[in-house]
Amino acid sequence: MNIDNVDYTTKIPNNVNLAEDRQVLRALESWHPGYIDWWMDMGPEGFQDALVYLRTAVSVDPKGWAKFDYVKMPDYRWGILLAPREDNRKIPFGRHYGEPAWQEVPGEYRAMLRRLVVIQGDTEPASVEQQRHLGRTAPSLYDMRNVFQVNVEEGRHLWAMVYILQKYFGRDGREEAAELLQRRSGSADKPRMLGAFNEATPDWLSFHMFTFFTDRDGKMQLESLAQSGFDPLSRTCRFMLTEEAHHMFVGETGVGRTIQRTCEAMKAAGIEDPGAVEKIRALGVIDLPTIQKKLNLHYTLSLDLFGSEVSTNAANTFTAGLKGRFQEIKIEDDHRLENAVYPVLKLVDGEIKRIDEPALTAINMRLRDDYTADCQRGLDRWNKIIDRTGVTFKLELPHVGFHRQIGEFKNVKISPTGKLLDETAWNRGKNAWLPSADDGDYIASLMQRVVEPGQFASWIAPPRVGIDNKPGDFEYVKIAA
Ligand SMILES: [Fe+2]
Ligand SMILES: [Fe+2]
Repeated sequence: MNIDNVDYTTKIPNNVNLAEDRQVLRALESWHPGYIDWWMDMGPEGFQDALVYLRTAVSVDPKGWAKFDYVKMPDYRWGILLAPREDNRKIPFGRHYGEPAWQEVPGEYRAMLRRLVVIQGDTEPASVEQQRHLGRTAPSLYDMRNVFQVNVEEGRHLWAMVYILQKYFGRDGREEAAELLQRRSGSADKPRMLGAFNEATPDWLSFHMFTFFTDRDGKMQLESLAQSGFDPLSRTCRFMLTEEAHHMFVGETGVGRTIQRTCEAMKAAGIEDPGAVEKIRALGVIDLPTIQKKLNLHYTLSLDLFGSEVSTNAANTFTAGLKGRFQEIKIEDDHRLENAVYPVLKLVDGEIKRIDEPALTAINMRLRDDYTADCQRGLDRWNKIIDRTGVTFKLELPHVGFHRQIGEFKNVKISPTGKLLDETAWNRGKNAWLPSADDGDYIASLMQRVVEPGQFASWIAPPRVGIDNKPGDFEYVKIAA
């Protein structure tokens, strides 16, 4: 196995030469106990003693960066792993375009950069907190292992951001690192920083939708931070993206398997109408209209994470060279955007219109458009699953103005197809577009834990292949007696 230059002799595995960076090592070591307390307190409830078949990052070599083994989650080796440094890397956008990438924090952008790191860092423990009850209702050991894998990696992503804070921001970085362990998802007095990370993840369909939609927002944010002129941030985000891909796999296949099971059960029972909700639910599966509603909810909560469509903040972080666009280096333009425009959907005199805005202030909008396109590709794959079973139904992304709490459409009601509505029409349609209390109760009634190796709950199909190519009846989690 290639372990590159990852050092496992210090308590914290790393490829950043911590052994010789005593001050940062000490800062991280003094942060570590608080992290473990947080993990025991807010990590997967009831499974801290279970042996989980997890992958651990042991290298940054794209061909062999992880190894699989049974690990108790509190013993997971959370390490600091940055993608290898590129020789002569240049700042790829903004005012400093073409200058050498920064290896230290540029003083004039210190506050702006710290805020970007803290916001990203805050989302990592938040999702662990949101998902902490899911082990109890896992539909199989395979799925249980997957949520735990996502959880330990979100924990590692927190370490990644804390390293940046402690290494490059001195005392206030250490304070921010401590704060990251204080806030709690959904807390009234110390909530997490972003809306979607304070919502509950009450059931497994929510979890799979979350990993599809919200982790995909994470991917887009990481992609744009991976372009950063601040090289250590770029390198850490590039390696995080390697792990992030699995989170989206868990989401996409989780929803896909749910869809597949529903369609197969409908076919077997001779039900042609996807809207025959009662009959379909009697089969112990989740009807497609309810899956559409969950999709509507999670997509729109995730759209809010991109912030306002038009934002001077976004323009400033771009111009400063701190946060770029999705695949910045592949885009063919001047990478400064001082004279460019970008079309933004806006509400003008009661109509939704596409208006050209300065491309700099429309940076968020552009990233969100790239996100929507990426989501749509996933939906196309889900729709293929439906097609293959012969059921007639199509999942669709709702209009970007639907159910928004941030940005251009936050004060208006818009239907999933993009029609402006008055309050009465909204209230009439709401339960058909977003999960109702009844839908939630029904889904909750299906959430029974299945722990026999190779067995799956009624509402979800088995995966086509196992993790690490393990056979179907592999015991992914050995639950402590
Ligand atoms: Fe993450
Ligand atoms: Fe993630």
